[in-house]
Amino acid sequence: MAALLQVLVPDIGDFDDVDVIEVLVAPGDRVAVEQSLVTLESEKATMEIPSPYAGVVKELLVAVGDKVREGSPLAMITVEEAAAAGKLAVPAAKAARAAEATPAPAAKARAAPAAEPAAKAPAPPRREPAAQRGAAERGAGPQEGSPLLGTRRAHASPSVRRLARELGVDLSLVRGSGPKSRILKDDVQGFVRDALARGGPPAPPAGLVLPPAPHVDFTKWGEVEVRQLNKVRRISARNLHRAWISIPHVTQFDEADITDLEAFRRSKADEAKSHGTKLTLLAFLIKAATVVLELFPPFNSSLEPNGEAIVVKKYFHNGIAVDTENGLVVPVIRDADRKGLLDIAAELAALSQKARDRKLGPEDMAGGTFTISSLGGIGGTAFTPIVNAPEVAILGVSKAEMRPVWRGEANEFVPRLMLPLSLAYDHRVIDGADAVRFTTRLKTVLGDIRNLIL
Ligand code: COA
Repeated sequence: MAALLQVLVPDIGDFDDVDVIEVLVAPGDRVAVEQSLVTLESEKATMEIPSPYAGVVKELLVAVGDKVREGSPLAMITVEEAAAAGKLAVPAAKAARAAEATPAPAAKARAAPAAEPAAKAPAPPRREPAAQRGAAERGAGPQEGSPLLGTRRAHASPSVRRLARELGVDLSLVRGSGPKSRILKDDVQGFVRDALARGGPPAPPAGLVLPPAPHVDFTKWGEVEVRQLNKVRRISARNLHRAWISIPHVTQFDEADITDLEAFRRSKADEAKSHGTKLTLLAFLIKAATVVLELFPPFNSSLEPNGEAIVVKKYFHNGIAVDTENGLVVPVIRDADRKGLLDIAAELAALSQKARDRKLGPEDMAGGTFTISSLGGIGGTAFTPIVNAPEVAILGVSKAEMRPVWRGEANEFVPRLMLPLSLAYDHRVIDGADAVRFTTRLKTVLGDIRNLIL
């Protein structure tokens, strides 16, 4: 006859109110003795709680986020007849009674089956806190104290460490997105995906290794609200951070006189409307940037991961940063060199709508060769955009303002609509002189849009 047994939190040291951070099984799962059921995290350590029984999980009595202590009930497990005959089996009623009868703090049974003398239970050893297991948990890869690792200690549960070991991932290189920067399963999988996309694992940091940011309890100073970041923000944060750390950025500022361009754009508003679209400034910027990219091929390239060559692309796919409620996304307008302004404007409107409706697919965002980030509709005088790797340059656009501009030949100030440009680039690929040649050419094209057809 099968019996239903309750599993309690075993002796976990002097910790009360320990967080359940992972539940590793689900009702219906068959578990083996010693198989981990949940992961707990105290202020100082992370530990997995193993099952004292082989059987089938009937019910889970905790969920992620719950707080437990020694003696708290974790799960109900149905144990097979054979095991029950071995005196491990305790009828459910008795198990429940025993659990009630045993005051939690006094429960000394380490494996914590709910009833029967602990002596007969297959008591798993008290788990060593993960933090103490240190280097042994890291398995292959550079060891603690290795000059390759610096002093950074990865914060991850044992099951995530196991996954990392299986995949050969050095956790000290993975950025954790969980609470207190804990590394989650998703982070390890994302790290592997990124490494595969790049064609191999990242080079270990050669110089400065940053220690993880300390956890700060902001509630000490006032009321706070914790808002979880959605997936788009988590992914873009990871990509932006990697680009910021790995690319030596320089930003070249300049201004383009778009007085005539703007007059032309407004004069064509009705015509554009009759084509069912709005001829936006951004459409001109995409077209102008493409014309200039054709003249400066390295700006339309990517640096090989070994840093020994650049891949110059003969196609011109423009990424456009679009601000959505969900976060920043960068859909791509393909072959801008072969499209007219009205086509680009229509495609731009369709893509930004799709972005705001959260309907962009991976294909809509893949293959960009150069990005434009336009904040001009909102304001600002200049900013330093982050290169959208593996591209090597990005154009930031701020708000155009009517300003007095000195015309030496006429010896007077004239009112001109000036558009601020901020070109950020990867200095490993692009020299400062070429960057200013690029923006100077861009100014010329935007200042006289007849250059678009040259
Ligand atoms: N200077 C002054 N006015 C500008 C301008 C600029 N550089 N760019 C746009 N405008 C004005 C337009 O003229 C338009 O006014 P109008 O209706 O009178 O013609 C208005 O702002 C809206 O412009 P529109 O062309 O419709 O949109 P947009 O080009 O400003 O923006 C997106 C389109 C998709 C780029 C924009 O919505 C967006 O998401 N921008 C944010 C990108 C971002 O977050 N980047 C940060 C990355 S770090």
